[in-house]
Amino acid sequence: EGFDVVVVGSCMTDLVSQAPRLPKAGETIHGHKFFIGFGGKGANQCIQASRLGAKTAMVCKVGKDFFGDNYIQNFKNNGVSTEFVGQTDKAATGAASIIVNDAGENAIVIVAGANMLLGYEDLQRAWPALGGTKVLICQLEISPDTSLQALRSARERQVKTIFNPAPAIPDLHPDFYPLSDVFCCNEPEAELLTGVAVGSVDDAGKVGAELLQRGCGSVIVTLGPQGCVVLSSQDPVPRHVATTPVTTLDTTGAGDSFIGALAFYMAHYPTMPLEEMARRANQVATVSVQGVGTQTSYPSRKDMPQELF
Ligand code: RIB
Ligand code: NA
Repeated sequence: EGFDVVVVGSCMTDLVSQAPRLPKAGETIHGHKFFIGFGGKGANQCIQASRLGAKTAMVCKVGKDFFGDNYIQNFKNNGVSTEFVGQTDKAATGAASIIVNDAGENAIVIVAGANMLLGYEDLQRAWPALGGTKVLICQLEISPDTSLQALRSARERQVKTIFNPAPAIPDLHPDFYPLSDVFCCNEPEAELLTGVAVGSVDDAGKVGAELLQRGCGSVIVTLGPQGCVVLSSQDPVPRHVATTPVTTLDTTGAGDSFIGALAFYMAHYPTMPLEEMARRANQVATVSVQGVGTQTSYPSRKDMPQELF
C-alpha cells in the first residue's frame, strides 16, 4: 500500500559458470568457478530499487520447490513485499544457465517455468493493494500478455511505467510502446525491435528516435561501458549520458541494476530530468559490473556517494 516501485515480472535461479570464454556449439570447455544466485530480470530490478531505499513489492510466481522457497526468503531479506508472490506446483521455479567469460561478458539460457503461469487473476488479486504505487516495471520473462495487462492497468491508475523489452521478441505487440512512459532497452534489443544495427552512440540515437515514433513517452538505449542515450517526446534530441570507465568483472544484470535505480529515482524525485536520473542510475550500474553475480553485486544506498540522493 503506497509502494514506490512495483515489479510485475520474473524470478530465476541463476546457475552461473565462469569460464575463460563462451563455448562453441558442440564444444566442452573447463570453467573455473560455479555458483548459484538469485536472478531474473524482474526480481533483479526490484531488489536494486529496494536497496536504494524504495518501498517495493514484487508480483511474480515461483514453484513450490526449494528454489521457490529460497527466493521468497531472499525477497524478505531485501525488504521486498512478498504479499503478491505466488507459488505453484504446476511448474518449477524459473532457472537461468549463465556462462560468464573472462571479459565479463555472458550468454544466458532461461527456462521461465513458473514465471509463465503468472496471469490475469494474479494481477487482479494484486491491484486493489497497489493504489498509490508510483512506478511499475515490466519485462518479457513472463507471458507478454500479462506484462501488457499490467502496463494497461498501471496507465489507468496513473502509475508511471517503465518497460524493459528483455529478452526482446521480434513481434512485440504495438501497444507496448504507447504504454511505456520510459522504454528502456540495450543495443541488441533495440536492433531486434527496429532492424537497425546499433554500433555507436549515433546509431543508438537513431533507433531511439524510431522507438519514440512508435509512441513511447521516453526512450533509453543502454550502451554498456558507453552509458546510455536518452530522448523523450518533449525533448526528442538524443542525449548521450556517459559513464566512468572501470574494470568489469561481471556485467550480468547490469541493465537490471540501471532500471531498478531509474525506478527509484522516478519514484523519489519525480521532477528530476530523465537525463539526470540516467546519469545517477549509470553510477549505480557501474558499481554492479565490478562485482561478481547479479544481485550480489548491487549496491545499497549506504555504499553510494550521498550526493546521489
Ligand atoms: O538480466 C540478467 C538476468 O537475466 C539474470 O539474472 C538471469 O536470471 C536472466 O534472467
Ligand atoms: Na555484477
